[in-house]
Amino acid sequence: ALRGVVALDGPSGTGKTTVARKLADRLSAGYLDTGAMYRVVTLAVLRAGVDPADSVRVAAVAADMEFTIGTRPDRPSVTLAGEDVTAAIRGRDINQDVSAVSAVPAVRELLVTRQRKVIDELLAEIGGIVVEGRDIGTVVAPDAPLKIYLTASPEIRAARRRAQDSAAGRDTTHADVLASVDRRDRLDSSRVTSPLRPAEDAVHVDTSELNIDQVIVALAELASQRG
Ligand code: C5P
Repeated sequence: ALRGVVALDGPSGTGKTTVARKLADRLSAGYLDTGAMYRVVTLAVLRAGVDPADSVRVAAVAADMEFTIGTRPDRPSVTLAGEDVTAAIRGRDINQDVSAVSAVPAVRELLVTRQRKVIDELLAEIGGIVVEGRDIGTVVAPDAPLKIYLTASPEIRAARRRAQDSAAGRDTTHADVLASVDRRDRLDSSRVTSPLRPAEDAVHVDTSELNIDQVIVALAELASQRG
């Protein structure tokens, strides 16, 4: 079983979520999807009728809301004020506005505190956790013994995102998804607070030519060397 934290960062569509969950499962570790936290805050912002560009009101929504986030790799459900929003946080409206919400420093501060708390609890309980996001290796868990930075070509990432969308019953075109993936990466990489970037000591893994099982085998091997 895994000891410590595996930090898994990278842009969307690299297979990060699937990889993180399978890896956690295989290593009998906990799992934390930090993107789901930014997504649930975005959902609360939209439901409150707040403009995602209004950072003061966005921060106020984030400070007031109640949410939970599952940490079991097989069933990571998310609730907002008691309601199951696991599917709702994957909608197109959320994809559109999550980068604006996640760029608000007060939101990040709040969520990073919460993320570290979850990590500490899971380390105490089961000893190991796979944490996925954009700033895990750089900000949330800079002491993680293993940091992975997943990449893949934009074309491949858009194709994967689209397959996920259609599996979830959301109709999209390749051009739409490519534009949306591209835009979110640009916003996430260019923001002032904790931009998307690899930690200096991260291991880069390009998943363009690999299937999920090949990625899992490679990462499990790294984890057994460093964990
Ligand atoms: O990984 P996922 O696509 O669910 O992340 C949604 C968004 O949440 C990202 O595009 C990014 O804006 C934000 N995010 C972040 N920091 C993280 C995880 C996600 O800013 N650690």
